[in-house]
Amino acid sequence: MKLEERVFSGMQPTGSLHLGNYLGAMLQWIELQKTHNCMYCVVDLHAITVWQDPAELRDSIRQVTAAYIAAGLDPKKSILFNQSQVSAHAELAWIFNCVARLGWLNRMTQFKEKAGKNKENASVGLYAYPNLMAADILAYRATHVPVGEDQKQHLELARDIAQKFNVDFQKEIVAAGFEDGVFFPQPEPVITGPATRVMSLRDGTKKMSKSDPSDLSRINLTDDADLIAKKVKKAKTDPEALPSEVEGLKDRPEAQNLVGIFAALSGTTREAVLAEFGGAQFSGFKISLAELATEKLAPMADEIKRLKAEPDEIDRVLADGAERARVVADPVMRKVKEIVGFIG
Ligand code: AMP
Ligand code: TRP
Repeated sequence: MKLEERVFSGMQPTGSLHLGNYLGAMLQWIELQKTHNCMYCVVDLHAITVWQDPAELRDSIRQVTAAYIAAGLDPKKSILFNQSQVSAHAELAWIFNCVARLGWLNRMTQFKEKAGKNKENASVGLYAYPNLMAADILAYRATHVPVGEDQKQHLELARDIAQKFNVDFQKEIVAAGFEDGVFFPQPEPVITGPATRVMSLRDGTKKMSKSDPSDLSRINLTDDADLIAKKVKKAKTDPEALPSEVEGLKDRPEAQNLVGIFAALSGTTREAVLAEFGGAQFSGFKISLAELATEKLAPMADEIKRLKAEPDEIDRVLADGAERARVVADPVMRKVKEIVGFIG
């Protein structure tokens, strides 16, 4: 089992995806698909760490799969699949529950945010969530993980788990044929592009998120052209003209966000955007941004709708992906069980 470069990432099927998911993660997924073996997962086991209505969950799993394909992920080239259909995730997560330390999980900021004030009432799954995420990646011994900025801390934990497993079971790992004592790689975060943290269109200091009660705060990948244009026009700005240098965006969170979105959507840098729009008023810039956003995103919304109308086809893609994912995970899990001391 030579360690090859492998890309793994995932999104939760909780409601529809938005521009932050697309620019922060999926654009990188599509790029990496050109050069690497990639696995892109719909992480339904993660979704149920907070309550999900079963019928809506089923619908969201298909919705996110449709969005993956509509965005440009090719189910023949990459492995597109659904987490709960591959048992290795839950099995390895349990082993990692026994490797990770309480102190490590206590530091996770996302748990604190999501659990809020009523920590006692959060699910145990929400607390152990990062261990499952480490299992997702390491069940395939994946080496590269393209995500948005908010997942950085979870990836550091995955690296710590990989490291501790390698140290705790050093002797057994060598005995199992890994002479260098390295069974799990240290998965590397890939957090790149001009929009690793897309902010709310209503408040440049808050992350764009599915859970924001205001739909105007985000552009959903299912929004039609009119709605996209309306949301861009209504986006919060400040009264100044756009600066001509990136430094001029400092302390102007809304301007910084819209320029980053423009750069990511047009495949350039913030510098290039400001070279074109520096000195312009937001009113003009927003017209160009609305045009760009509708041109890039509206066809994707149409394609999601078309794919969603054929749920059997989506289910077939997921079943095929799960089968191919198992082929990668099964030999890894056999070794893990041997290393840990299980029989069979
Ligand atoms: P989630 O929707 O929480 O499952 O996130 C799926 C992926 O989208 C992860 O890689 C996140 O880091 C990324 N992501 C979510 N929201 C944003 C955002 N506002 N800006 C950039 N990336 C994001
Ligand atoms: N926790 C990630 C998020 O909410 C989703 C996720 C689950 C993930 N497992 C993963 C991302 C493995 C990358 C790799 O965004």
